[in-house]
Amino acid sequence: MLQKKHILLAFLAPPKRIATNQNETVLATLVAAGVPIKQACTNGVCGVCLTPLLSGEIDYATRHPYGLNEKEKQNGYFLPCIATCKTDIAIDRPKVRLR
Ligand code: FES
Repeated sequence: MLQKKHILLAFLAPPKRIATNQNETVLATLVAAGVPIKQACTNGVCGVCLTPLLSGEIDYATRHPYGLNEKEKQNGYFLPCIATCKTDIAIDRPKVRLR
């Protein structure tokens, strides 16, 4: 059975919690909820959707986050376009602003 997970948008005041499915990418959930996030390849390659993961675990399944360099990984960034939620997560504001 698919379990609902939640994404806490910790950068909002007050923080907002949105529900996601384990088969839906974090990016798809954010877009559906109207959260401004820039996207391009939606394939884990370009790095444009780069977002800080504050807590919780995400899952890339069989996909590889090519768009993340070592430094970004160490700094806690992830790629929402290829990630699903393994647990409830909390995120900070996506790095690239929508213009
Ligand atoms: S949109 Fe290109 S890495 Fe996410």
